[in-house]
Amino acid sequence: MASKTFWVFLGALLVTVAAISVHGDYENEFDEENELEEYSERKGKILFPFVSIVRFANTDCSSMNTMNGTCLARRECNNLNGTITGICANRRGRCCIVSRTCGSTTNVNNTYFTSPGYPAAYAGGAACTITVNRCNTNVCQLRIDFLDLVLSQPDGDGNCVTDAITITGGNTVVPVLCGDNTGQTLYVDFNGNNAITITVTATLATTFARRWNIRLTQLGCDCPGIAPNGCLQYYTGTTGTINSFNYGGAANTLLSASLVTGTRQMVNLNYGICIRMEAGFCSIQYAQAANDIYSFTLTGDVEGADNTVLGTALGASNNGACTTDFVVIPNPTVTATGLPVGTDRFCGLGFVPVTTASKPFVIYAVTDANEGATAVSPPDVANRGFSLTYTQIAC
Ligand SMILES: *[C@@H]1O[C@H](CO)[C@@H](O)[C@H](O)[C@H]1NC(C)=O
Ligand SMILES: *[C@@H]1O[C@H](CO)[C@@H](O)[C@H](O)[C@H]1NC(C)=O
Ligand SMILES: *[C@@H]1O[C@H](CO)[C@@H](O)[C@H](O)[C@H]1NC(C)=O
Repeated sequence: MASKTFWVFLGALLVTVAAISVHGDYENEFDEENELEEYSERKGKILFPFVSIVRFANTDCSSMNTMNGTCLARRECNNLNGTITGICANRRGRCCIVSRTCGSTTNVNNTYFTSPGYPAAYAGGAACTITVNRCNTNVCQLRIDFLDLVLSQPDGDGNCVTDAITITGGNTVVPVLCGDNTGQTLYVDFNGNNAITITVTATLATTFARRWNIRLTQLGCDCPGIAPNGCLQYYTGTTGTINSFNYGGAANTLLSASLVTGTRQMVNLNYGICIRMEAGFCSIQYAQAANDIYSFTLTGDVEGADNTVLGTALGASNNGACTTDFVVIPNPTVTATGLPVGTDRFCGLGFVPVTTASKPFVIYAVTDANEGATAVSPPDVANRGFSLTYTQIAC
């Protein structure tokens, strides 16, 4: 009897000593609420250091209204230099935000790239870059969400001289952008294992309340959300609104070289915008956004036109009249009449609604090297760009 009690006692003592020694190694990393789970998780790692144990799904967890986190073990979050904002997975995980600013490198999915001190205004300075490496070899594309991107406007001729964002290293050509692009999303194909570099230059000498918060999502080659190769922008859903970069109702306050009101359009654009053809839908209609007379002002003199011209059929130009800045919509018919338009190019100061059944659904945006008044006749004055709505039509 006595010897049985002794063996039970000895067994219990050994377990306790073992537990204390394991616990001791990590004691400073424990917190009260999660001690048990963290402990068994770590014990698992010690016993099976080469086995990766999936304890819970690394799903999104919403944390702050400007950034979402990913549910990770606390140690994983610390290893990524992430910020823990809460708990998830029934308290077993930590909601972890990975946010980086100038001069950083990341290979973490859902990294946020922000201006220094975000959301406070950033005064500018040396070029601010982030280098994005693929998180694994099955990643094909980087989705770049401009959750908040306010840079200074281009000069009056459409050049991003004060502030600019450039994106290089991928297989998709990305134009140099500036101005207000909050809400725009880009899709950039990775070029094999090469990194994609995002650089924001902002002139310190120019006082402007610039800031940015950009979400970088890595998309696997088989991810349903991936854009077709080469599409800089990609829309899904049966209806939506497509804005040109830096589209806005107010004119650029900067003057063009010929001292007339400048443009919001950027120079040297030539990109494709793809729209996923939804199941059961066979054609697509485009119209300029309603209640906004500036929503299709690509070429011509906005200030010299009155509102019988702006946003109307009178202001609309197409075909041979469109050689500098235009939108291409393949093989359209006039929505109202069903008759062929007879051209794919649209420009001017208004847009007549069109429908096309050409597939895939894609439109192209083109501008030339000068958005000011000097280069062309009639001159470009105070152009805003375009805001086009689309509606897919059931088969
Ligand atoms: C956070 O996630 C929700 C749900 O997926 C999404 O609607 C929202 O846009 C995300 N917000 C940010 C800041 O990423
Ligand atoms: C985390 O920060 C440390 C110290 O600044 C750095 O050495 C390390 O590379 C960073 N790790 C990651 C994943 O960024
Ligand atoms: C990155 O995260 C998004 C959602 O936040 C997910 O859809 C995507 O599959 C993830 N990418 C990889 C490579 O796991």
